[in-house]
Amino acid sequence: MTKIAASILSADFADLKQDCLRLLREGVDLLHFDVMDGHFVPNISYGAPVLESLHAALPDAFYDVHLMISDPARYAPDFARAGAGLITFHLEAVPGAVPRVIETIREAGCRVGLSIRPGTPVEAVFPYLEALDLVLVMSVEPGFGGQAFMPEAVQRLAALDAERRRRNYRTLLEVDGGINAQTGPLCAQAGADWLVAGSALFRAPDPAPVIRLLHGEA
Ligand code: DX5
Ligand code: ZN
Repeated sequence: MTKIAASILSADFADLKQDCLRLLREGVDLLHFDVMDGHFVPNISYGAPVLESLHAALPDAFYDVHLMISDPARYAPDFARAGAGLITFHLEAVPGAVPRVIETIREAGCRVGLSIRPGTPVEAVFPYLEALDLVLVMSVEPGFGGQAFMPEAVQRLAALDAERRRRNYRTLLEVDGGINAQTGPLCAQAGADWLVAGSALFRAPDPAPVIRLLHGEA
């Protein structure tokens, strides 16, 4: 079944544990932890100490860490120690050092994802598919929650899905940005295994129907 990753970027940070717990109890599968450095993207979010506290408060949750930072190899080990289960970095941040960053994250004990911005051709990740646990297709320009879904993401997911099938790989596909009850099912149909949703979950008066639709249940 499609998994739902709740992006805590849209949570109430004064009540982070309760806000996450509420969604986990409603059936969200993973917590998506967006890290922004004000350099790779024009926004700053939060760092490893926040993950460490949240992990201590909710130790059974799976933490899907999305690094939107210029130097992922330098900071990934901090996030691994803080409780990350999987760490995704951006190809555009380290175009010449992708294998080295994959290795660093693996050595830190985490599963590894590689993400691409909307303008990066999907073929750019093909050489690394075998070495990855996951590819994250951005369906907005990274940096902010609450943006509109870019429909091209659907074909991009389908192209990655075709390539992984052709090569018989188990690499997971994740999509992030503007995912809601309408756009999520389209992405799942195109091959997305994990759907990231921030505002559609945390800002919904009742997230239960959104979760059902994203799970493909309603
Ligand atoms: C954007 C982040 C997303 C963001 C998604 O750069 O990577 O995870 O929080 O938020 P929504 O679901 O509101 O588009
Ligand atoms: Zn994200």
